[in-house]
Amino acid sequence: MSGAGRPPPVRFPRDPAVSRTGPVAVPTGGPGTHEGRAPGKVILVGEHAVVYGYRAIAAAVDLFTTVRLHERPGRSEVEDTDIWDARLADALATLVPPEGVGVSISSDLPTGCGMGSSAALAVAAVRAAARREGRVASFEECFERGMAIERVFHGNPSGLDHTVSAMGGAVIYRRGERATPLRVATPIRLVVANTGAPGDTAEMVAGVRDRKPEVELLRIGALSEMVAARLALGRSVGPFLHEAHWLLRRIGVSTRELDELCRAMEAAGAEGAKLAGAGGGGIAIALVTPETEDAVRHAASRLVDDRVYAVSFGG
Ligand code: MEV
Repeated sequence: MSGAGRPPPVRFPRDPAVSRTGPVAVPTGGPGTHEGRAPGKVILVGEHAVVYGYRAIAAAVDLFTTVRLHERPGRSEVEDTDIWDARLADALATLVPPEGVGVSISSDLPTGCGMGSSAALAVAAVRAAARREGRVASFEECFERGMAIERVFHGNPSGLDHTVSAMGGAVIYRRGERATPLRVATPIRLVVANTGAPGDTAEMVAGVRDRKPEVELLRIGALSEMVAARLALGRSVGPFLHEAHWLLRRIGVSTRELDELCRAMEAAGAEGAKLAGAGGGGIAIALVTPETEDAVRHAASRLVDDRVYAVSFGG
């Protein structure tokens, strides 16, 4: 999704253009606010290939989106949001009835940068809608109803992003199968650098579909398998991330800024760096150790200012 300028309040269409999946929210009629919260993610390896049935590995990050729903008279409306996207009302209309609900969305996640802001929104919204019905959303509900929201934003999502957001931790995922937690024997530390230039996932995925780079997608899928095996054994995966970036470049989803960021972070000591997410902008990640982290962060911040984070998982 992309973070455009601030439009006027978002009203829900009375007749949503998107079909509802799963149970339709039944208003409780009671006062109060119903809240759902979910994390963003980074993809370690496997983006784009995962759309075609290859495996991908991703991990949740400590940046969250929170959705709050409350009863209000008249039409449902997004009253307050950190996430601005023309598709927001249609996406939420898969969950929220056209009348009687006020929505507020707060998010730590930068939008349109490959950190799963739409997926976190989807899962947080499903959780809030279930709370409004006096229930706790199961993983299956988050997956099914989250997928309907992700489809509005991304057209043909693999399901990876909102699966990770709903499960938390590190996961290995293949489309059509239930994701499994990934065993990571030695902690992984990533520097995440955001170019600040948003990419559009739907556009990137459509571009790859049109170019049909079968050999590269097959190789990216093979990298995911090797990375999963090596993470379980506590072996380094840096060179695999490096190769993944240049394959993503060949399939047309990198940019000059992302290439430069990866080169700079590797020159500063990262074991491997790659774009992460759909590309066309957004973030690059670099695998670091306690010894190399400061130098890599410094190299990244020379290119992207303070849009540098760190993420850990496993161990
Ligand atoms: C986007 O975060 C990941 C992609 O593989 C798309 C998808 O899995 O739906 C590019």
